[in-house]
Amino acid sequence: MSEQQFKRYTVTSALPYANGPLHIGHLAGCYIPSDIYVRYLRSQGRDVAYVCGSDEHGVAITIKAKNEGKSPQEVVDHYHEMMKSSFKEFGISFDHYSRTSAKVHHETAAQLFLDLYEKGEFVEQVTEQYYDEEAQQFLADRYIEGTCPKCGYGQAYGDQCEKCGSSLSPTDLINPVSKLSGSVPVLKETKHWFLDLGRYTPFLKKWILEDHKDDWKNNVLGQCRSWLEAGEGLQPRSMTRDMDWGIPVPLKEAEGKVLYVWFDAPIGYISSTKEWAMENGIDWEPYWKDKGTKLVHFIGKDNIVFHCITFPAILKTHGEFILPDNVPANEFLNLEGDKISTSRNWAVWLHEYLEEFPGKQDVLRYVLTANAPENKDNDFTWKDFQARNNSELVAIYGNFVNRALVLTHKYFGGRVPERKGLSPFDQETLEAAHDFPGKISVALERFRFREALALMMDFARLGNKYLADTEPWKTVKNDEERTGTILNIALKIAADLCVVSEPFLPHTAGKLAQMLDLPPKSWADFGKGDFIMEGHSLKKPSLLFEKIEDDQVEAQVTKLHQAKEKNEGKAPLAAPMKEIVSFDDFAKLDMRVVTILQAERVKKSKKLLKLIVDTGLDKKTVLSGIAAYFTPEELVGKQVTMLINLAPRRMMGELSEGMVLMAEGGDGSYKLLQPHETTSTGAQIS
Ligand code: MF3
Ligand code: ZN
Repeated sequence: MSEQQFKRYTVTSALPYANGPLHIGHLAGCYIPSDIYVRYLRSQGRDVAYVCGSDEHGVAITIKAKNEGKSPQEVVDHYHEMMKSSFKEFGISFDHYSRTSAKVHHETAAQLFLDLYEKGEFVEQVTEQYYDEEAQQFLADRYIEGTCPKCGYGQAYGDQCEKCGSSLSPTDLINPVSKLSGSVPVLKETKHWFLDLGRYTPFLKKWILEDHKDDWKNNVLGQCRSWLEAGEGLQPRSMTRDMDWGIPVPLKEAEGKVLYVWFDAPIGYISSTKEWAMENGIDWEPYWKDKGTKLVHFIGKDNIVFHCITFPAILKTHGEFILPDNVPANEFLNLEGDKISTSRNWAVWLHEYLEEFPGKQDVLRYVLTANAPENKDNDFTWKDFQARNNSELVAIYGNFVNRALVLTHKYFGGRVPERKGLSPFDQETLEAAHDFPGKISVALERFRFREALALMMDFARLGNKYLADTEPWKTVKNDEERTGTILNIALKIAADLCVVSEPFLPHTAGKLAQMLDLPPKSWADFGKGDFIMEGHSLKKPSLLFEKIEDDQVEAQVTKLHQAKEKNEGKAPLAAPMKEIVSFDDFAKLDMRVVTILQAERVKKSKKLLKLIVDTGLDKKTVLSGIAAYFTPEELVGKQVTMLINLAPRRMMGELSEGMVLMAEGGDGSYKLLQPHETTSTGAQIS
């Protein structure tokens, strides 16, 4: 179906687990791209439901609760609010953000399970699973630890060995132990309800690998193909679990069992739509049941199998629902060359970013879109963050807009001047400007957000270059009419840019619209005449972006390493290597073993000690900033290492004739560098 034919859109973003704060990987993976897409659709006047919510069930939550000594409910309540507020701050414009503990959701998910049950879609199977007799419960895979049968690692989980990476099942473990009570679990029979995915394979193969082979992303198709074409075929998956946290299985014989989190969570999209529709007095059903609705799931790559195989199989076999038209999954975002990891504390947390870069939400949105892991994993670095801010947002977008507004205020009292007598360059610029919105639309509708963003910046670049080339600050000296035309064209581009950049940079576009005093305009208005007319009065401009300095990003990198080290309880990481020096430069340094003859404090200095050393050649005076770490007494008689040919320097009225070498501890303390055995004073170090 072509874009124009869809009557409405249901756009979802993966429900984040409510077991921790959000980080940049979340934003880059699915929330920013979905938000851009939805803002664009709304700007085109399309009917959209953009839904999300917190994923509050599953073992991820119960483990977090256990680690923190809290109840699962306390954990989800805390993180639900926190995530909701981060999304809001970053302008993620959900129509509705719900949670899977909501009553509507419990009812919706339970009903869907019953519908499938009544249709006979489940295969009931009794299997043996580990049971903790002390804690009196069946153990989720993650709650069992034991020795890996493949590599011998002693703390492998029931589903995976983190040492060798093998995927395991709990009964593979040697000497299994329950993490709940520490006791040895026993195997006990339990009944579960399985979805026999193999039954849907022919349908899934046709639907994904044929019908969507041209419009789904390659990374998504690739994963689907490997699932669907695997030798052993799709295995039955249990849709129920023995747990006490989750949605109770709505069957009498299933007491003490809950729905598998991956059964209930995607249904959360439907429940969230229902809540939204109820609150707004509209009918939710067309958004999930009408064939004229385009359903799009934005997710990260670890969710592909659930959104392309399991959930569509459920929807299809249920019979009433539409299937996703696209699942534009992103790959993973790394951070400073390493995998983002909550447990290793290697992440940029959104709530911290908001405190440290207040008002700069759009900068992060911009950088994460420009570097989105659209087709392969990608890396976020603070250097790149700074460079994109300074050389693109500040130097191009911000500079262009600011010049256009400031000059109009300066030369024309803030009124949009007349456009008269176009030069060929003006014509060319206007034509190029005319083409941008359409080109950006095409990229957005194909889920090519990086390309769309690059085009948006090219549009700003066009404006910036136009002003640089036409130089209205020069023409104003003798040609007011020409100057007016130039600024008119620049302002037209600024107004168009404002509309075009709104999906990417909503906060910035809002400010720009205010400065331009732009009447409400949207994408659908392109081609219906200019957005601001001659004589229109502009408001006072202010800077849209500001430069980010080296020390700001360096502080972030340091913080990242420190947080990780604190987490690992390790010594701080070594400082980066200095520039390479030539052997000849190195050979110029005269380093010796010297003996400290005298040591005393320097008057009026807390830091300095004055040392008299025997270099084997002569006696030298050295001032050393180590008073906080050593008493004069403990230094006298010690052999230490020294650079004896350092140019003398005067400090606190005394001449220092060299430098005693020290090892800098991570906590700022110093350690003497002494020869391993006493050696002759004056021995050269090479
Ligand atoms: N909570 C899951 C995750 O963070 C995503 C759930 S997506 C939904 O990986 F489909 F279940 F909603
Ligand atoms: Zn192993």
